[in-house]
Amino acid sequence: MNIGIIGLGFVGLSFAAVLGSKKIPVIGMDTNQDKLKKIYNSKSPFYEPDIDKFLKNALSKTLRLTDNFTNVVSNSDIIFLTVGTPKSKSGYIDLSMLKNASKSIGIAIKKLKKTPIIVVKSTVVPGTAVDVVIPTIEKFSSKKHGKNFHVLSNPEFLKEGSAINDTLNPHLIVIGGLNSKPVTKLSNFYKKLYGEKIKIMKTNSQTAEMIKYANNSFLATKISFINQISALCQSIPGTNVDEIAEAIGYDPRIGNLFLKAGPGYGGSCLPKDLSTLIHYSSKIGNDPSLLKAVQKTNNIQIHQIMKILKKNLVTLKNKNITILGLSFKENSDDIRESRSIELIKILLKNGCKVTAHDPKSIENTKLIFDKKINYSNSITNSLKNSDCAIIMTAWENYKKLTNHSFTNMNKKFIIDSRRILTQKNLDVNYIGLGLGNN
Ligand code: UGA
Repeated sequence: MNIGIIGLGFVGLSFAAVLGSKKIPVIGMDTNQDKLKKIYNSKSPFYEPDIDKFLKNALSKTLRLTDNFTNVVSNSDIIFLTVGTPKSKSGYIDLSMLKNASKSIGIAIKKLKKTPIIVVKSTVVPGTAVDVVIPTIEKFSSKKHGKNFHVLSNPEFLKEGSAINDTLNPHLIVIGGLNSKPVTKLSNFYKKLYGEKIKIMKTNSQTAEMIKYANNSFLATKISFINQISALCQSIPGTNVDEIAEAIGYDPRIGNLFLKAGPGYGGSCLPKDLSTLIHYSSKIGNDPSLLKAVQKTNNIQIHQIMKILKKNLVTLKNKNITILGLSFKENSDDIRESRSIELIKILLKNGCKVTAHDPKSIENTKLIFDKKINYSNSITNSLKNSDCAIIMTAWENYKKLTNHSFTNMNKKFIIDSRRILTQKNLDVNYIGLGLGNN
Protein backbone atom coordinates (compact mmCIF):
# COMPACT_ATOMS: atom_id res chain seq x y z
CA MET A 1 0.00 0.00 0.00
CA ASN A 2 1.53 3.33 -1.07
CA ILE A 3 0.76 6.35 1.08
CA GLY A 4 0.73 10.01 0.10
CA ILE A 5 0.71 12.88 2.57
CA ILE A 6 -0.16 16.39 1.38
CA GLY A 7 0.98 19.15 3.77
CA LEU A 8 4.06 18.65 5.93
CA GLY A 9 3.17 20.55 9.11
CA PHE A 10 3.06 19.02 12.60
CA VAL A 11 0.58 16.32 11.68
CA GLY A 12 1.80 15.54 8.15
CA LEU A 13 5.50 15.50 8.91
CA SER A 14 5.16 13.44 12.11
CA PHE A 15 3.00 10.93 10.24
CA ALA A 16 5.43 10.80 7.28
CA ALA A 17 8.41 10.32 9.60
CA VAL A 18 6.73 7.52 11.53
CA LEU A 19 5.46 5.70 8.40
CA GLY A 20 8.84 5.98 6.67
CA SER A 21 10.68 4.74 9.72
CA LYS A 22 8.38 1.68 9.69
CA LYS A 23 9.34 1.02 6.04
CA ILE A 24 5.89 1.88 4.69
CA PRO A 25 6.23 3.43 1.21
CA VAL A 26 5.27 7.08 1.69
CA ILE A 27 5.54 10.29 -0.35
CA GLY A 28 5.38 13.56 1.58
CA MET A 29 4.31 16.59 -0.41
CA ASP A 30 4.52 20.29 0.35
CA THR A 31 4.55 23.36 -1.87
CA ASN A 32 6.90 25.30 0.42
CA GLN A 33 10.39 24.89 -1.04
CA ASP A 34 12.28 26.16 2.03
CA LYS A 35 10.45 23.68 4.20
CA LEU A 36 11.14 20.83 1.78
CA LYS A 37 14.84 21.69 1.63
CA LYS A 38 15.12 21.43 5.41
CA ILE A 39 13.18 18.17 5.51
CA TYR A 40 15.43 16.71 2.77
CA ASN A 41 18.30 17.32 5.18
CA SER A 42 16.48 15.53 8.03
CA LYS A 43 15.80 18.85 9.73
CA SER A 44 12.27 19.56 10.85
CA PRO A 45 11.15 23.17 10.13
CA PHE A 46 9.84 23.33 13.73
CA TYR A 47 11.16 22.04 17.04
CA GLU A 48 9.62 18.76 18.12
CA PRO A 49 11.32 16.13 20.30
CA ASP A 50 12.60 13.08 18.35
CA ILE A 51 11.29 14.23 14.97
CA ASP A 52 14.71 14.78 13.34
CA LYS A 53 15.81 11.30 14.39
CA PHE A 54 12.66 9.70 12.93
CA LEU A 55 12.95 11.84 9.80
CA LYS A 56 16.51 10.74 9.16
CA ASN A 57 15.55 7.11 9.64
CA ALA A 58 12.47 7.49 7.41
CA LEU A 59 14.44 9.19 4.61
CA SER A 60 17.02 6.40 4.69
CA LYS A 61 14.16 3.89 4.27
CA THR A 62 10.93 4.58 2.39
CA LEU A 63 10.05 8.26 2.77
CA ARG A 64 10.24 10.26 -0.47
CA LEU A 65 9.48 13.96 -0.88
CA THR A 66 7.93 16.00 -3.66
CA ASP A 67 6.42 19.40 -4.38
CA ASN A 68 4.22 18.00 -7.11
CA PHE A 69 0.54 17.01 -6.71
CA THR A 70 0.51 14.68 -9.74
CA ASN A 71 3.53 12.84 -8.35
CA VAL A 72 1.93 12.19 -4.97
CA VAL A 73 -1.53 11.38 -6.35
CA SER A 74 -0.45 9.02 -9.11
CA ASN A 75 1.89 7.09 -6.82
CA SER A 76 -0.42 6.63 -3.81
CA ASP A 77 -3.33 4.37 -2.93
CA ILE A 78 -4.29 6.38 0.15
CA ILE A 79 -3.67 10.14 0.21
CA PHE A 80 -3.83 11.94 3.55
CA LEU A 81 -4.70 15.64 3.44
CA THR A 82 -2.90 17.34 6.31
CA VAL A 83 -2.86 20.95 5.14
CA GLY A 84 -3.36 23.80 7.59
CA THR A 85 -6.84 25.14 8.32
CA PRO A 86 -5.91 28.31 10.26
CA LYS A 87 -8.18 30.95 11.75
CA SER A 88 -9.27 33.54 9.22
CA LYS A 89 -9.32 37.26 10.04
CA SER A 90 -13.00 37.00 11.02
CA GLY A 91 -12.18 34.27 13.56
CA TYR A 92 -13.72 31.54 11.41
CA ILE A 93 -11.89 28.69 9.66
CA ASP A 94 -9.79 29.43 6.58
CA LEU A 95 -10.30 26.54 4.17
CA SER A 96 -8.33 28.04 1.28
CA MET A 97 -5.40 25.60 1.57
CA LEU A 98 -7.80 22.65 1.69
CA LYS A 99 -9.74 23.97 -1.32
CA ASN A 100 -6.52 24.48 -3.31
CA ALA A 101 -5.30 21.00 -2.45
CA SER A 102 -8.68 19.49 -3.42
CA LYS A 103 -8.55 21.35 -6.73
CA SER A 104 -5.00 20.12 -7.44
CA ILE A 105 -5.98 16.55 -6.52
CA GLY A 106 -8.94 16.85 -8.89
CA ILE A 107 -6.68 17.95 -11.74
CA ALA A 108 -4.17 15.21 -10.89
CA ILE A 109 -6.73 12.38 -10.89
CA LYS A 110 -8.34 13.42 -14.16
CA LYS A 111 -6.29 10.93 -16.16
CA LEU A 112 -5.70 8.46 -13.33
CA LYS A 113 -6.73 4.82 -13.89
CA LYS A 114 -6.89 3.73 -10.23
CA THR A 115 -9.41 4.71 -7.53
CA PRO A 116 -7.56 6.59 -4.78
CA ILE A 117 -8.82 7.12 -1.24
CA ILE A 118 -8.43 10.71 -0.08
CA VAL A 119 -8.41 11.04 3.70
CA VAL A 120 -9.06 14.42 5.30
CA LYS A 121 -6.95 14.63 8.47
CA SER A 122 -6.97 18.43 8.68
CA THR A 123 -9.37 19.85 11.28
CA VAL A 124 -12.47 20.98 9.38
CA VAL A 125 -16.01 22.03 10.31
CA PRO A 126 -18.76 19.40 9.95
CA GLY A 127 -19.83 19.01 6.35
CA THR A 128 -16.50 20.04 4.79
CA ALA A 129 -15.70 16.65 3.23
CA VAL A 130 -19.17 16.39 1.69
CA ASP A 131 -19.76 20.06 0.81
CA VAL A 132 -16.24 21.22 -0.12
CA VAL A 133 -13.70 18.46 -0.74
CA ILE A 134 -15.85 16.02 -2.76
CA PRO A 135 -17.50 18.64 -5.05
CA THR A 136 -14.15 20.36 -5.68
CA ILE A 137 -12.42 17.12 -6.67
CA GLU A 138 -15.42 16.13 -8.82
CA LYS A 139 -15.43 19.53 -10.54
CA PHE A 140 -11.74 19.50 -11.46
CA SER A 141 -11.46 15.78 -12.29
CA SER A 142 -14.81 15.30 -14.03
CA LYS A 143 -14.95 12.04 -12.07
CA LYS A 144 -17.49 10.65 -9.60
CA HIS A 145 -17.05 10.27 -5.87
CA GLY A 146 -17.77 6.70 -4.77
CA LYS A 147 -16.87 5.38 -8.21
CA ASN A 148 -13.54 6.90 -9.31
CA PHE A 149 -12.30 8.18 -5.96
CA HIS A 150 -13.31 8.11 -2.29
CA VAL A 151 -13.11 10.74 0.43
CA LEU A 152 -12.96 9.82 4.12
CA SER A 153 -12.63 11.90 7.30
CA ASN A 154 -10.02 10.91 9.84
CA PRO A 155 -9.33 13.57 12.51
CA GLU A 156 -5.99 13.61 14.30
CA PHE A 157 -5.45 13.91 18.07
CA LEU A 158 -1.67 14.32 18.44
CA LYS A 159 -0.24 17.08 20.63
CA GLU A 160 2.68 19.36 19.85
CA GLY A 161 5.64 18.54 22.04
CA SER A 162 4.79 14.83 21.91
CA ALA A 163 3.83 14.53 18.24
CA ILE A 164 6.03 11.52 17.46
CA ASN A 165 5.04 9.60 20.55
CA ASP A 166 1.35 10.36 19.95
CA THR A 167 1.65 9.27 16.31
CA LEU A 168 3.24 6.00 17.44
CA ASN A 169 0.59 5.42 20.13
CA PRO A 170 -2.79 6.95 19.22
CA HIS A 171 -5.58 6.32 21.75
CA LEU A 172 -8.22 6.12 19.01
CA ILE A 173 -8.66 6.15 15.25
CA VAL A 174 -11.85 7.79 13.98
CA ILE A 175 -12.87 7.04 10.40
CA GLY A 176 -15.80 8.88 8.84
CA GLY A 177 -17.37 7.77 5.57
CA LEU A 178 -20.37 5.82 4.35
CA ASN A 179 -18.90 3.63 1.63
CA SER A 180 -17.76 0.51 3.49
CA LYS A 181 -15.02 -0.63 1.09
CA PRO A 182 -12.67 2.37 1.49
CA VAL A 183 -13.48 2.55 5.23
CA THR A 184 -12.37 -1.09 5.58
CA LYS A 185 -9.25 -0.42 3.51
CA LEU A 186 -8.22 2.51 5.73
CA SER A 187 -9.12 0.55 8.84
CA ASN A 188 -6.93 -2.37 7.68
CA PHE A 189 -4.06 0.03 7.00
CA TYR A 190 -4.26 1.29 10.60
CA LYS A 191 -4.54 -2.25 12.00
CA LYS A 192 -1.40 -3.19 10.11
CA LEU A 193 0.34 -0.08 11.44
CA TYR A 194 -0.78 -0.27 15.08
CA GLY A 195 -1.85 -3.88 15.57
CA GLU A 196 -5.26 -5.54 15.72
CA LYS A 197 -6.05 -4.14 19.17
CA ILE A 198 -6.10 -0.48 18.08
CA LYS A 199 -9.48 1.08 18.84
CA ILE A 200 -11.12 2.17 15.58
CA MET A 201 -14.41 4.02 15.54
CA LYS A 202 -16.34 4.13 12.27
CA THR A 203 -18.98 6.75 11.63
CA ASN A 204 -20.12 9.18 8.94
CA SER A 205 -17.85 12.03 7.91
CA GLN A 206 -19.88 14.85 9.56
CA THR A 207 -19.74 13.08 12.91
CA ALA A 208 -16.02 12.38 12.51
CA GLU A 209 -15.42 16.08 11.79
CA MET A 210 -17.52 17.10 14.79
CA ILE A 211 -15.70 14.63 17.09
CA LYS A 212 -12.51 16.65 16.63
CA TYR A 213 -14.20 19.91 17.71
CA ALA A 214 -15.97 18.23 20.61
CA ASN A 215 -12.65 16.76 21.73
CA ASN A 216 -10.67 19.99 21.61
CA SER A 217 -13.43 22.12 23.10
CA PHE A 218 -13.88 19.67 25.96
CA LEU A 219 -10.14 19.87 26.67
CA ALA A 220 -10.36 23.67 26.59
CA THR A 221 -13.35 23.49 28.94
CA LYS A 222 -11.40 21.38 31.44
CA ILE A 223 -8.53 23.88 31.40
CA SER A 224 -10.78 26.93 31.77
CA PHE A 225 -12.66 25.19 34.57
CA ILE A 226 -9.51 24.56 36.59
CA ASN A 227 -8.22 28.05 35.77
CA GLN A 228 -11.40 29.55 37.19
CA ILE A 229 -10.93 27.45 40.33
CA SER A 230 -7.31 28.65 40.35
CA ALA A 231 -8.44 32.29 40.21
CA LEU A 232 -10.81 31.61 43.10
CA CYS A 233 -8.05 29.91 45.12
CA GLN A 234 -5.90 32.98 44.59
CA SER A 235 -8.35 34.88 46.82
CA ILE A 236 -8.84 32.15 49.43
CA PRO A 237 -5.86 32.04 51.82
CA GLY A 238 -4.32 28.60 52.19
CA THR A 239 -6.00 26.92 49.20
CA ASN A 240 -3.96 24.96 46.68
CA VAL A 241 -5.33 24.39 43.16
CA ASP A 242 -3.00 21.43 42.49
CA GLU A 243 -4.31 19.50 45.48
CA ILE A 244 -7.87 20.27 44.40
CA ALA A 245 -7.14 19.07 40.85
CA GLU A 246 -5.49 15.92 42.18
CA ALA A 247 -8.44 15.12 44.42
CA ILE A 248 -11.16 15.66 41.81
CA GLY A 249 -9.00 13.80 39.26
CA TYR A 250 -9.33 10.62 41.33
CA ASP A 251 -13.03 10.64 40.56
CA PRO A 252 -13.13 8.43 37.44
CA ARG A 253 -16.04 10.49 36.14
CA ILE A 254 -13.70 13.50 36.01
CA GLY A 255 -10.23 12.03 35.27
CA ASN A 256 -6.89 13.56 36.19
CA LEU A 257 -5.62 14.83 32.82
CA PHE A 258 -5.85 18.41 31.52
CA LEU A 259 -6.50 19.82 34.97
CA LYS A 260 -3.22 21.69 35.29
CA ALA A 261 -4.05 25.30 36.05
CA GLY A 262 -1.84 27.82 34.32
CA PRO A 263 -1.85 31.12 32.42
CA GLY A 264 -4.49 29.83 29.99
CA TYR A 265 -4.31 27.56 26.98
CA GLY A 266 -2.58 28.68 23.79
CA GLY A 267 -1.27 27.07 20.63
CA SER A 268 -2.52 26.62 17.12
CA CYS A 269 -5.43 24.35 18.00
CA LEU A 270 -7.52 24.86 21.14
CA PRO A 271 -8.05 28.66 20.73
CA LYS A 272 -8.68 28.31 16.99
CA ASP A 273 -11.02 25.34 17.23
CA LEU A 274 -13.04 26.89 20.03
CA SER A 275 -13.38 30.11 18.09
CA THR A 276 -14.43 28.20 14.95
CA LEU A 277 -17.00 26.15 16.86
CA ILE A 278 -18.45 29.32 18.40
CA HIS A 279 -18.79 30.89 14.93
CA TYR A 280 -20.17 27.68 13.49
CA SER A 281 -22.76 27.27 16.29
CA SER A 282 -23.96 30.84 15.91
CA LYS A 283 -24.13 30.42 12.14
CA ILE A 284 -26.48 27.46 12.43
CA GLY A 285 -28.60 29.20 15.07
CA ASN A 286 -27.33 27.68 18.32
CA ASP A 287 -26.13 29.89 21.14
CA PRO A 288 -22.71 28.51 22.19
CA SER A 289 -23.02 29.96 25.70
CA LEU A 290 -20.71 27.48 27.44
CA LEU A 291 -18.04 27.68 24.74
CA LYS A 292 -18.09 31.49 24.94
CA ALA A 293 -17.58 31.31 28.70
CA VAL A 294 -14.65 28.91 28.23
CA GLN A 295 -13.07 31.33 25.77
CA LYS A 296 -13.66 34.35 28.02
CA THR A 297 -12.21 32.55 31.05
CA ASN A 298 -9.12 31.76 29.01
CA ASN A 299 -8.73 35.33 27.79
CA ILE A 300 -8.92 36.83 31.28
CA GLN A 301 -6.66 34.31 33.02
CA ILE A 302 -3.44 36.30 32.40
CA HIS A 303 -5.02 39.25 34.22
CA GLN A 304 -4.52 37.19 37.39
CA ILE A 305 -0.80 37.68 36.77
CA MET A 306 -1.25 41.42 36.19
CA LYS A 307 -3.23 41.69 39.43
CA ILE A 308 -0.40 40.08 41.42
CA LEU A 309 2.21 42.25 39.68
CA LYS A 310 0.34 45.49 40.38
CA LYS A 311 -0.27 44.57 44.02
CA ASN A 312 3.40 43.81 44.62
CA LEU A 313 5.17 46.41 42.48
CA VAL A 314 2.59 49.24 42.96
CA THR A 315 3.63 51.00 39.75
CA LEU A 316 4.67 49.09 36.65
CA LYS A 317 6.24 51.93 34.63
CA ASN A 318 9.92 51.22 33.85
CA LYS A 319 9.94 48.03 35.93
CA ASN A 320 12.19 45.28 34.58
CA ILE A 321 10.14 42.16 34.04
CA THR A 322 11.66 38.81 33.01
CA ILE A 323 9.50 36.36 31.12
CA LEU A 324 10.68 32.77 31.47
CA GLY A 325 9.06 30.78 28.67
CA LEU A 326 7.61 32.04 25.41
CA SER A 327 6.28 28.91 23.72
CA PHE A 328 2.64 27.95 24.38
CA LYS A 329 3.86 24.79 26.07
CA GLU A 330 7.15 23.11 26.91
CA ASN A 331 9.05 21.05 24.29
CA SER A 332 7.83 23.28 21.49
CA ASP A 333 9.06 26.43 19.75
CA ASP A 334 5.50 27.37 18.77
CA ILE A 335 4.37 30.78 20.04
CA ARG A 336 1.02 30.89 18.24
CA GLU A 337 -1.64 32.20 20.67
CA SER A 338 0.92 31.76 23.45
CA ARG A 339 -0.23 33.46 26.65
CA SER A 340 3.34 34.74 27.09
CA ILE A 341 3.03 36.82 23.95
CA GLU A 342 -0.28 38.30 25.14
CA LEU A 343 1.21 39.02 28.56
CA ILE A 344 4.21 40.78 27.03
CA LYS A 345 1.86 43.00 25.00
CA ILE A 346 0.04 44.03 28.20
CA LEU A 347 3.33 44.61 30.05
CA LEU A 348 4.59 46.85 27.26
CA LYS A 349 1.34 48.85 27.35
CA ASN A 350 1.96 49.38 31.06
CA GLY A 351 5.44 50.78 30.37
CA CYS A 352 7.42 47.74 31.61
CA LYS A 353 10.83 46.81 30.24
CA VAL A 354 10.64 43.17 29.22
CA THR A 355 13.45 40.64 28.94
CA ALA A 356 12.46 37.27 27.52
CA HIS A 357 14.08 33.87 27.82
CA ASP A 358 13.09 30.60 26.17
CA PRO A 359 15.17 27.54 25.20
CA LYS A 360 13.65 27.35 21.68
CA SER A 361 11.32 30.23 20.84
CA ILE A 362 13.41 33.40 20.88
CA GLU A 363 13.77 33.61 17.08
CA ASN A 364 10.00 33.23 16.59
CA THR A 365 9.34 35.89 19.24
CA LYS A 366 11.71 38.37 17.58
CA LEU A 367 9.41 38.29 14.54
CA ILE A 368 6.67 39.77 16.74
CA PHE A 369 8.42 42.19 19.09
CA ASP A 370 11.71 42.86 17.29
CA LYS A 371 13.55 45.49 19.38
CA LYS A 372 10.59 46.32 21.65
CA ILE A 373 11.85 43.81 24.22
CA ASN A 374 15.21 42.30 25.20
CA TYR A 375 16.10 38.66 24.62
CA SER A 376 18.49 36.46 26.51
CA ASN A 377 19.77 32.98 25.84
CA SER A 378 20.89 32.62 29.43
CA ILE A 379 18.47 32.40 32.36
CA THR A 380 20.99 34.10 34.66
CA ASN A 381 21.44 37.07 32.34
CA SER A 382 17.70 37.40 31.81
CA LEU A 383 17.23 37.77 35.57
CA LYS A 384 19.91 40.45 36.05
CA ASN A 385 18.39 43.59 37.66
CA SER A 386 14.91 42.19 37.22
CA ASP A 387 12.06 43.40 39.44
CA CYS A 388 10.01 40.28 38.80
CA ALA A 389 10.42 36.97 36.95
CA ILE A 390 7.28 35.36 35.58
CA ILE A 391 7.45 31.64 34.76
CA MET A 392 5.06 31.09 31.86
CA THR A 393 6.14 27.73 30.39
CA ALA A 394 7.02 24.56 32.29
CA TRP A 395 10.38 23.92 30.60
CA GLU A 396 12.61 21.39 32.46
CA ASN A 397 15.37 24.02 32.86
CA TYR A 398 13.09 26.27 34.90
CA LYS A 399 12.24 23.39 37.25
CA LYS A 400 15.93 23.29 38.20
CA LEU A 401 16.07 26.91 39.40
CA THR A 402 17.22 27.41 42.99
CA ASN A 403 17.75 30.35 45.38
CA HIS A 404 21.14 30.86 43.79
CA SER A 405 19.55 31.43 40.37
CA PHE A 406 17.82 34.61 41.61
CA THR A 407 20.74 36.34 43.38
CA ASN A 408 21.30 39.00 40.72
CA MET A 409 17.66 40.17 40.62
CA ASN A 410 16.83 43.70 41.72
CA LYS A 411 13.80 42.40 43.65
CA LYS A 412 13.64 38.69 44.39
CA PHE A 413 10.07 38.35 43.24
CA ILE A 414 8.80 35.31 41.29
CA ILE A 415 5.35 34.70 39.83
CA ASP A 416 5.06 31.04 38.86
CA SER A 417 2.05 30.56 36.57
CA ARG A 418 2.70 26.79 36.35
CA ARG A 419 3.72 26.24 40.04
CA ILE A 420 6.84 24.29 39.08
CA LEU A 421 8.94 25.72 41.94
CA THR A 422 6.36 25.35 44.71
CA GLN A 423 8.22 22.54 46.49
CA LYS A 424 11.52 24.43 46.58
CA ASN A 425 10.69 26.75 49.51
CA LEU A 426 12.65 29.52 47.83
CA ASP A 427 13.94 32.40 49.87
CA VAL A 428 12.21 34.91 47.58
CA ASN A 429 8.80 36.56 47.31
CA TYR A 430 7.25 33.56 45.55
CA ILE A 431 3.67 33.62 44.31
CA GLY A 432 2.27 30.55 42.56
CA LEU A 433 -0.85 31.14 40.49
CA GLY A 434 -3.73 29.31 42.16
CA LEU A 435 -2.11 29.11 45.58
CA GLY A 436 -4.11 31.19 48.03
CA ASN A 437 -1.45 33.47 49.47
CA ASN A 438 -1.99 35.16 52.80
C1 UGA B 1 -4.32 19.99 21.23
C2 UGA B 1 -5.01 18.68 21.67
O1 UGA B 1 -4.57 18.34 22.97
C3 UGA B 1 -4.68 17.54 20.69
O2 UGA B 1 -5.38 16.37 21.05
C4 UGA B 1 -5.08 17.96 19.28
O3 UGA B 1 -4.77 16.97 18.33
C5 UGA B 1 -4.36 19.26 18.93
O4 UGA B 1 -4.70 20.28 19.89
C6 UGA B 1 -4.81 19.67 17.56
O5 UGA B 1 -5.99 19.96 17.38
O6 UGA B 1 -4.00 19.61 16.62
P1 UGA B 1 -1.85 21.00 21.43
O7 UGA B 1 -2.50 22.30 21.16
O8 UGA B 1 -0.70 20.60 20.60
O9 UGA B 1 -2.93 19.79 21.31
O10 UGA B 1 -1.34 20.97 22.94
P2 UGA B 1 -2.06 20.71 24.34
O11 UGA B 1 -1.23 19.74 25.08
O12 UGA B 1 -3.49 20.40 24.17
O13 UGA B 1 -1.89 22.12 25.06
C7 UGA B 1 -2.67 23.25 24.69
C8 UGA B 1 -2.54 24.35 25.71
O14 UGA B 1 -3.22 24.00 26.92
C9 UGA B 1 -1.11 24.68 26.14
O15 UGA B 1 -0.97 26.08 26.24
C10 UGA B 1 -0.97 24.03 27.50
O16 UGA B 1 -0.02 24.64 28.34
C11 UGA B 1 -2.37 24.21 28.05
N1 UGA B 1 -2.72 23.21 29.08
C12 UGA B 1 -2.82 21.90 28.79
C13 UGA B 1 -2.96 23.66 30.38
O17 UGA B 1 -2.88 24.87 30.68
N2 UGA B 1 -3.31 22.75 31.34
C14 UGA B 1 -3.43 21.41 31.06
O18 UGA B 1 -3.77 20.63 31.99
C15 UGA B 1 -3.17 20.98 29.76
